[in-house]
Amino acid sequence: MSNIIHLLQGKSLLAPLAGITNLPFRLIAREFGCDLCFTEMISANGLIRESAKTVEYLETCPEDQPLGVQLFGADPDIMAQAAAIVAGCHPDFIDINMGCPVRKVVKTGSGAMLMKAPILAGRIIAAVVKSVNVPVTVKIRSGWSRSSINAAAMACIAEDSGAAAIIVHGRTADQGFSGHADWGVIAQVKSAVKIPVIGNGDIWQPEDAFKMRTQTGCDAVMVGRGALGNPWIFLGINQLSSGFPSNCHPSLPERHAIIKKHWEMETHYCGRRIANRSFRKHLLWYTKGLAGSGRFREIVGKMTDSDAMLSELDRYFQSLAESQTKIMA
Ligand SMILES: Cc1cc2nc3c(=O)[nH]c(=O)nc-3n(C[C@H](O)[C@H](O)[C@H](O)COP(=O)(O)O)c2cc1C
Repeated sequence: MSNIIHLLQGKSLLAPLAGITNLPFRLIAREFGCDLCFTEMISANGLIRESAKTVEYLETCPEDQPLGVQLFGADPDIMAQAAAIVAGCHPDFIDINMGCPVRKVVKTGSGAMLMKAPILAGRIIAAVVKSVNVPVTVKIRSGWSRSSINAAAMACIAEDSGAAAIIVHGRTADQGFSGHADWGVIAQVKSAVKIPVIGNGDIWQPEDAFKMRTQTGCDAVMVGRGALGNPWIFLGINQLSSGFPSNCHPSLPERHAIIKKHWEMETHYCGRRIANRSFRKHLLWYTKGLAGSGRFREIVGKMTDSDAMLSELDRYFQSLAESQTKIMA
């Protein structure tokens, strides 16, 4: 317990994001001070069948630590077997997804569907805890819907079943990712359990992390969409935690350099063909809100060749630098 508190207390975590938090993205987030990352959710069924794609999600490296591997599934035995496979990769945590609202997942009884099945949820957690020597965390929603908020009750079940910490996304499953996260529910969970609580939902600026901590008493914060195109958010959170004002807006050359570094890493890890497709979304996030980004995004959106996309990126940042020089002159 003291080890897990040490790993989590006051820390800022990157949320598991399917199709996004692969190894390159995690390494970039860590470069700016993210304390702990998670893989995206991995199917327990896929893992025990040794599906090649599923096993790829486990790819990591020594710099990618501490790391949590997230599993989803609805069968306690299969989840326990999958957890044992994952434990062989020596992650720092194994996390159980009880919050995913996507149809494909809930129709199998896993993800957020487990918010409606607390007894089964407890059995899954207990089976996973029993099968591994790694701390097991559980990521939940505030409830299935507004009329069935049960995060505090679920957190107590998780604690009684042996979970080492609980992650609370303060939205209901039927909200998906819309509306606002209810941080009041995170505070309720914090008063209901003794294990560490990680708050999640709507941290868009470093200041939000600070507010979440003070309003909920949570032990650590987890950032999801606020880190897309903005790994610097972790720098800002750390500056605030150390008592300094947050000053985490990168200069244009710095942003340009990180985009290129991230792209190179994506190409290295995923191969050029996949990276050409998968990196496009990061290009859009990294340039969102910059002058003339609409035009840049439109041009890049039509390109298929990575050399052409790279040249367009360089040209775009060159034009931004020139217009900045003109304004300053
Ligand atoms: C594109 C996308 C993919 C996600 N994938 C996962 C996932 O694999 N596992 C999980 O527990 N949550 C997943 N989530 C939920 C996030 O981890 C997080 O709980 C949610 O986005 C709320 O945090 P935020 O407001 O900081 O984004 C995903 C969210 C998004 C937008």
